[in-house]
Amino acid sequence: MKDQIISNAFNSVQATIEQRKTAKVLADEPWKPTLDREAQNELISQLLHLAAHAPYHYKSAERYKQDVLNSSLPFRAYTLDANTCRKLAEHLKDSQPPAGKILNMLWAAEALIIFTWLPDVFGEQPSQRTMEPLPFTGNLRNMEHIAATSAAITNVLLGATSAGFPNYWSSGGALRQQAAREILDIGLDEIMLGCLFVFPKDALERGVEVKPGKLRDEGKELASWSKNIEL
Ligand SMILES: Cc1cc2nc3c(=O)[nH]c(=O)nc-3n(C[C@H](O)[C@H](O)[C@H](O)COP(=O)(O)O)c2cc1C
Repeated sequence: MKDQIISNAFNSVQATIEQRKTAKVLADEPWKPTLDREAQNELISQLLHLAAHAPYHYKSAERYKQDVLNSSLPFRAYTLDANTCRKLAEHLKDSQPPAGKILNMLWAAEALIIFTWLPDVFGEQPSQRTMEPLPFTGNLRNMEHIAATSAAITNVLLGATSAGFPNYWSSGGALRQQAAREILDIGLDEIMLGCLFVFPKDALERGVEVKPGKLRDEGKELASWSKNIEL
């Protein structure tokens, strides 16, 4: 009986993990959201709860603590509902660098969750940044800040997948840059790791272009990247 329970739980996690795939939904005009605003907010909140359950090793530096955003987690998340995604697309229409396909995805999304991570920095920092602190210091803490943020992001993608919402982890493109950061009020002292697009459940049936992940099937042969160690 116990084995059966473990097996069922495993199967359900396995199914979600295997179902998750990149779906870049390219709407050709702004879509009316399928969820009402309350449901969008509920979805965002549930996905954030999953992110908060991810493992993390090191607290973020004190310098990142603000009045409300005062968590010691090594990342921050910024959320946009569908209406705000459409407004952002409008703002970015003529921005430099061009937002390109990000616009089509902002037209389609039910929600966008932007994750940044909070690098440990050393020495004097510029008071007015025009770009993220790149390259960042390659130490163990920063590596683990990124790892923790990635774990949180993966929880969000798996949650969205499990709830039936096609999704996509984007590096952000134009959303990383100063112009968009000013619109979004996301400080350039934080480093963007993932802009997570959550699309309507029926997005894949609407007849618009949906691009898969280029590397979906690359390098997956277990023996080509894993090795059993026997001593
Ligand atoms: C850190 C990270 C950043 C990514 N950024 C982009 C991106 O900017 N553009 C893109 O097309 N795909 C991006 N992807 C998605 C990958 O292309 C995709 O995961 C890969 O092709 C495998 O496909 P799958 O997600 O369907 O398994 C990113 C994935 C990760 C993990």
